[in-house]
Amino acid sequence: MPTLLTDSPTIDAPAAETGGAAGYSHLPDAAAIAMKRKIKFEGRPVWAEISLADILHNLKVIRGHVGARRKILAVVKANAYGLGSVPISKALARAGAEWLGVTCSSEGIELREAGIRKRILVLTGFWAGEEEILLRHDLTPTVTRLEQLRQLERAAGRRARRVRNFRARFHLKINTGMNRLGIEPGEVDAFAAELARCPHLLLEGTYTHFASAEDFTSDQTAGQERKFFAALERLRGLGVSPGLVHLANSGAICARPSTWGDLVRPGAILYGYHQGFDPPEKKAEVMAEMDLRPCLSLRARIISLRDVAAGEGVGYGARFVTARPSRIAVIAAGYADGLVRARTNRGSALLRGKRVPLVGTISMDLATVDATEVRDAAVGDIVTIYGSDGADAIEVSDAAREIGTVTSDLLCALGRRVRRFYLS
Ligand SMILES: Cc1ncc(COP(=O)(O)O)c(C=O)c1O
Repeated sequence: MPTLLTDSPTIDAPAAETGGAAGYSHLPDAAAIAMKRKIKFEGRPVWAEISLADILHNLKVIRGHVGARRKILAVVKANAYGLGSVPISKALARAGAEWLGVTCSSEGIELREAGIRKRILVLTGFWAGEEEILLRHDLTPTVTRLEQLRQLERAAGRRARRVRNFRARFHLKINTGMNRLGIEPGEVDAFAAELARCPHLLLEGTYTHFASAEDFTSDQTAGQERKFFAALERLRGLGVSPGLVHLANSGAICARPSTWGDLVRPGAILYGYHQGFDPPEKKAEVMAEMDLRPCLSLRARIISLRDVAAGEGVGYGARFVTARPSRIAVIAAGYADGLVRARTNRGSALLRGKRVPLVGTISMDLATVDATEVRDAAVGDIVTIYGSDGADAIEVSDAAREIGTVTSDLLCALGRRVRRFYLS
């Protein structure tokens, strides 16, 4: 029997904020095991449980899917999609992820200062002046514009005066249709000519990024692939080795083997979330092949409960009006915690294993659920915003679809003040 989240949480496992309690997934059995090891802390009762065990399971599934010879660059940018880049990167590094991917120097430095020595690729290029910092911290830059070669060469030359035989390894990004970052395929000749004038640089990898890898109704991705491989051929023809070739984000890892190259760059799937595919049936096919486990549970307690007569407004702007005498439960989570405002009057949470609708405007610190159908609900009860309670579970991906956004958007919304507990 699945265990419900009804009792007062205590922890009988080692301190959960640094790992220790049992990881659990959406599966009722796993949830039951996890419930034996509950989380306890003082203060405002809203918290996130992030299962490192599930993330490592997902890493294994990805490796099994793309084959052991390919390297994995775990995308941990934006604080590992809001979930906590240091503990997650440490776990991934220990489990053998070869590379980590961040957005900028400060994200990379945070990992270096935490003692992480794995290779780190800075995915979003660099801003003038940042190249010096990247090299100092052994962070691998991406060149996205031709003129950056010169900037990087100057910084690498300066470093070579202090470090014998120093050459800065970098990756090149080629724009093949996303039309944001990367040199144009037509600039490959100019790139090769410029690189020949940069004795302190070493091209270690070449990549592109897909705009719509999950869309199987258009041929955009196939077109991007063709352009990319043609640009690589041109590069090789000019006597320049592209080094590690990489293209695949989550959608492409799941469903486009021709894009796997030498290295893959999973983000969302590493955290256990499949993308929405087009046509939608594709998702079931992909899910059957890759059994991912969503790593996040977000929970808050009921901090107030009241009976409200029919016809009363609830919350800012009275955007929910009770249609019957109702029990309205207030939970300690609002949009500053990651329960985004767009979910006002949309979707539900779990209370004592039952779905309860989110009603009324989600405010910064509070949200309200209609607990009328859960007769024994009480102040102190745990409400699950994402994750499982009993036999039911609410996936971040489902909530994202309900409000027309992507899973990563909701993960990144997780507020700084939400305590994060890492379950191993
Ligand atoms: C260059 C690059 N590669 C890979 C990823 C991972 O994407 P996803 O979360 O879809 O796997 C991102 C994320 O935006 C990215 O910018």
